Amino acid sequence: MWLSSNPMSFGRGYFVGTTKEREVFGKPAWKQSFCCRLWSSCRPAIHGYRETERLQWGVTSESILRRVRAVAFPEGSPLLGPIHVLDLDKEGYIKPHIDSVKFCGSTIAGLSLLSDSVMRLVPENKSTDWVDMLLSRRSLYILRDDARFKFTHEILKDEESFFSGQKVARHRRISVICRNLPV
Ligand code: OGA
Ligand code: MN
Repeated sequence: MWLSSNPMSFGRGYFVGTTKEREVFGKPAWKQSFCCRLWSSCRPAIHGYRETERLQWGVTSESILRRVRAVAFPEGSPLLGPIHVLDLDKEGYIKPHIDSVKFCGSTIAGLSLLSDSVMRLVPENKSTDWVDMLLSRRSLYILRDDARFKFTHEILKDEESFFSGQKVARHRRISVICRNLPV
């Protein structure tokens, strides 16, 4: 299993700075009724959100996404072209699910923007155990192999967001998620 989140993977707090954070999602073109074959299987898991997919990005965003890909995916790994952008309200949350194995490969890499949050991973075969990861605002997390296939992942509601006994206040949160293709 390979889990990584801030600060374990990078030894420093953040993957993008505040200026870049603004630039990444600066001009969101949220579709009114977004409907996508890729994500429809896990959409009932998500509450209080809007989302889009984007293939073309600005220069700054592209350079951030290149860095994400460089750390998250092995060289030459076939990637899912469009990048998924998910905007959760303050009250929004994501229930436990596993991303579709039909459309998405071994690795999921997500940048968390605008708000800290807590991601919970629960083994599919032992729901009394779990691992919580603090996803700091502007950090990158990577779910790979067993963490991606054998654990459900979820983003906790504001009222359930605690890490090491400390409240993690949830505000509106945008995530930018890169995935590779199944092989
Ligand atoms: C998803 C998902 C996590 C995140 O869209 O399938 O799990 O970081 N998103 O927003
Ligand atoms: Mn997911």
